[in-house]
Amino acid sequence: MNPRIAQKIILVGAPGAGKGTVAKGLVDRFGLIHLSTGDMLRAAVVAGTDVGMLAKSFMDRGALVPDEVMVRLISDRVQAKDCRNTDGSPRFLLDGFPRTLPQADALATEGLGPDLVLFIDVPNESVVRRLSGRRTCPACGSVHHIEFAPPLADGICDRCGGTLVHRSDDHDATIRKRLDAFAVQTAPLVQRYGSVIEKVDGNLPPEVVLKAAVAVMRRYGFAT
Ligand code: AP5
Repeated sequence: MNPRIAQKIILVGAPGAGKGTVAKGLVDRFGLIHLSTGDMLRAAVVAGTDVGMLAKSFMDRGALVPDEVMVRLISDRVQAKDCRNTDGSPRFLLDGFPRTLPQADALATEGLGPDLVLFIDVPNESVVRRLSGRRTCPACGSVHHIEFAPPLADGICDRCGGTLVHRSDDHDATIRKRLDAFAVQTAPLVQRYGSVIEKVDGNLPPEVVLKAAVAVMRRYGFAT
């Protein structure tokens, strides 16, 4: 492990800011493990686990899942071998966690506070447009957009040929509630992580946003 390279990276941003899109680009370039709590919860819903059933009732109404559930989920996941360097030290890209100050406290208590926090900053109007046009592939997790990243064939995933869906929480009323939750519960993290936070303008084309994020990663020791 090179100690000069940031090993614990967190993506913060409003719903639809483009965290998943940026994460995919960073993972492809830097070989990080991408831990998306939203993806983990949706997988639990599909699998019908207790966590999934509980989470669904919160996700469907645009509310955050209780902290203790989320902390347990992430604490277990980051212990896995794929989130560790050969010397056992942690290495991951967290997308969607922490989302509250108590979640940030829990991460710090476990010695997993971030070396770098990328804050993808996007105004609310753009978010609503992005989420109402987003189409996701339940089979492989690919994300498309009917206007900004249209699939080659209508309703069909470019990557695996699966049928694209409109996420159940990507409808106007729920999007507004998710934005409220972000403003009240998640935005305070920006101040909390003041010393390691790097703001990226997310209101630009995806390739420009990714380029800016890659430039930050290089400053934190990553080489492509
Ligand atoms: P989660 O899945 O994490 O949802 P989110 O934070 O609301 O983020 P999204 O996945 O909606 O958006 P994104 O920022 O990844 O954007 P994307 O790249 O897809 O969480 C869902 C729910 O789970 C939460 O509401 C909560 O209930 C629960 N949950 C999860 N974690 C939790 C936690 N820690 N604590 C408690 N509850 C938790 O892009 C969006 C669209 O825009 C796409 O169509 C994309 O193609 C397009 N796009 C992306 N970038 C650009 C660009 N630069 N220009 C134009 N279009 C773009």
